[in-house]
Amino acid sequence: MSIEKSRHHIDSLSSKLDRFWNLSSDNFFSLFLDDLLTGFGVNNGKHYRPIDDNERKQLFELGRMYAQAVIDCPYVDLLGGIYMNLSGRGHKKCLGQFFTPFHVCKLMSDIANHDLITGNFFPEKKVLRISEPTCGSGAMVLGMLSSVKEKYPTLLSKLDFTMVDIDRTCVKMSAIQILSNLLIHQDEIAGLKVYRGNALGPMSEMEFFIGFQNYNDADIVDDIPINTNGGSIGAELDWGWVVNL
Ligand SMILES: C[S@@+](CC[C@H](N)C(=O)[O-])C[C@H]1O[C@@H](n2cnc3c(N)ncnc32)[C@H](O)[C@@H]1O
Repeated sequence: MSIEKSRHHIDSLSSKLDRFWNLSSDNFFSLFLDDLLTGFGVNNGKHYRPIDDNERKQLFELGRMYAQAVIDCPYVDLLGGIYMNLSGRGHKKCLGQFFTPFHVCKLMSDIANHDLITGNFFPEKKVLRISEPTCGSGAMVLGMLSSVKEKYPTLLSKLDFTMVDIDRTCVKMSAIQILSNLLIHQDEIAGLKVYRGNALGPMSEMEFFIGFQNYNDADIVDDIPINTNGGSIGAELDWGWVVNL
């Protein structure tokens, strides 16, 4: 992964979004995310509004630029970088969060994966469920996918991710980033579930956003002794391993 290359893509997309946002009537970043999500069949219903010809043209070009960035920078947190750039350029009213820098996520995953592999937590044919209860832009999960793909590519198909965030923009960014990387780089994972909701609240109040599962429940590894948040969230949601909180 080249940091310069990803920085270049993040800056180009941010500048274009920033320029057009100032001409548009509302949150153009959100419109951009909604536009990308329609490619994955997500109907944004009440959150979507009609767009004019100029906006359509800009969104088409932004979509092309984003796809090229994903091709050039596999599993890098591009949207989180764009979000934070835009927040720094005066859009703090709509955006105001900070995410873990991607290279830190990657390093953390490299360390965690080493423990997982050397600790034999990947029994034959079993699926490992990994949860990210406050996923932000999805940087931790992208770091994990990037690390596994680089070091243990055959294990990708054994990973199942559950991602949650209370913020709808974060949920959208996470879904887009994971799905577009899997699609563009032709990778298969065991499963993905993305929810919008309060990770500290009951499962019944979670809103399912998007996901899929390519395995039977009997194949789950159910005893992963790594849990960085003490286990309360994992217990409520029946999650295997909490990556980050
Ligand atoms: C500091 S960001 C970290 C995001 C990501 N884990 C990372 O490392 O880049 C914290 C995230 O937690 C989300 N969050 C805060 N409280 C939450 C809660 N109770 N349930 C779900 N998400 C929450 C916020 O919306 C934000 O996206």
